[in-house]
Amino acid sequence: MNILLTGGAGYIGSHTAVVLTQANHEVVLLDNFYNSHKRVLGQLQKILGKNLHCVDGDVRNTTLITKILQDCKIDAVIHFAGLKAVGESVQNPIEYYANNVQGAISLLEAMKFANVKTLLFSSSATVYGDPQYLPIDENHPTGPTNPYGKSKLHIEEMLKDLTNSDNEWKIACLRYFNPVGAHESGLIGENPAGIPNNLLPYIAQVAGGMRSDLAVFGDDYPTIDGTGIRDYIHVMDLAEGHVKALEFLEVNNGWHALNLGTGRGYSVFEVIEAFEKASARKVPYHVVSRRLGDVSECYATPQKAKVVMSWSATRSLHEMCLSAWDFQRLNSVAAP
Ligand code: NAD
Ligand code: WQD
Repeated sequence: MNILLTGGAGYIGSHTAVVLTQANHEVVLLDNFYNSHKRVLGQLQKILGKNLHCVDGDVRNTTLITKILQDCKIDAVIHFAGLKAVGESVQNPIEYYANNVQGAISLLEAMKFANVKTLLFSSSATVYGDPQYLPIDENHPTGPTNPYGKSKLHIEEMLKDLTNSDNEWKIACLRYFNPVGAHESGLIGENPAGIPNNLLPYIAQVAGGMRSDLAVFGDDYPTIDGTGIRDYIHVMDLAEGHVKALEFLEVNNGWHALNLGTGRGYSVFEVIEAFEKASARKVPYHVVSRRLGDVSECYATPQKAKVVMSWSATRSLHEMCLSAWDFQRLNSVAAP
């Protein structure tokens, strides 16, 4: 298949580009490099032994997207492009709706015009809001608590309306839990600009000596050790989930929501310990008060993805930490 990856130079998009190319698909990347670096293209070339076609542009440029869909004879689109920082979305909601929701509308207009009706959308566990029960299945009520999460839910709802209006559309909303880790080569990985918001990149920078210690946001949750529990999933497992989801859509029309998680949660202290083991470095930390908006526990049941598309995550927390550490070690000097 010929597949367009919007936001394809980003963290999850670049790993998915590797897996799709190795599965003999032709990928075209579209990215405005707002939160990624052109350097990634050279790294992808090293991993794959060939250059990938990448267009430097904005997903909100409907004319450009239409041209790519037609010129490259695109069969399916994976829509990764968007802004993803929860705190930033609270500070600047309009920017989040403008990029995420407007970006999706622009893409859908182009897809409709070019008659490309197969789409994977990068959604998030954040659409569920505060868990009402665990593990979270796809029927769990939605109720995002921040503009980022709301933008994801608005898009999901738009996509549902679209499939209701025309049954030729094939759309899967992939609700990622906590993607972490990197490609085994150490050439691509998560490279956040500034102070990392998320746990794994922060720990990696502490282990790498770029930061002195980790602030653990609360040790008074009702969990095994008092720290927050999340469903961390290796980015390569996640990437493979996209290949499976495209196969699923080949034979299934309509709108589908699918959790991509492991089904198992780890606490912050467990992640610190696993990272120390994988890196053979100390990760100094101090406990501070809870971060506003954080929940105690969040993990998926990935049973639906297993049943309908024969996918489940296979990589361990150790492999997640090892690969994140390799990427950190090999890239910390070059990182901007
Ligand atoms: P990322 O920031 O690394 O990748 C997103 C890419 O989209 C970046 O390369 C950025 O430059 C590009 N982009 C942003 N706006 C654009 C626009 N208007 N036009 C063209 N390109 C644009 O993020 P990621 O972690 O790879 O996430 C990919 C998707 O998955 C996002 O939609 C995100 O919301 C979603 N998601 C991520 C996580 C996570 O923890 N990483 C969890 C759940 C869902
Ligand atoms: C994990 C755990 C923190 C940083 C976020 C988004 C979500 C999704 C994934 C996109 C929590 C603790 C963290 C630190 C800490 N993204 N922590 N010190 O909050 O589960 O999810 O990323 O869709 O929408 O909300 O992930 O990695 O920030 O936190 O103690 O410096 O680590 O309290 O328990 P989160 P996270």
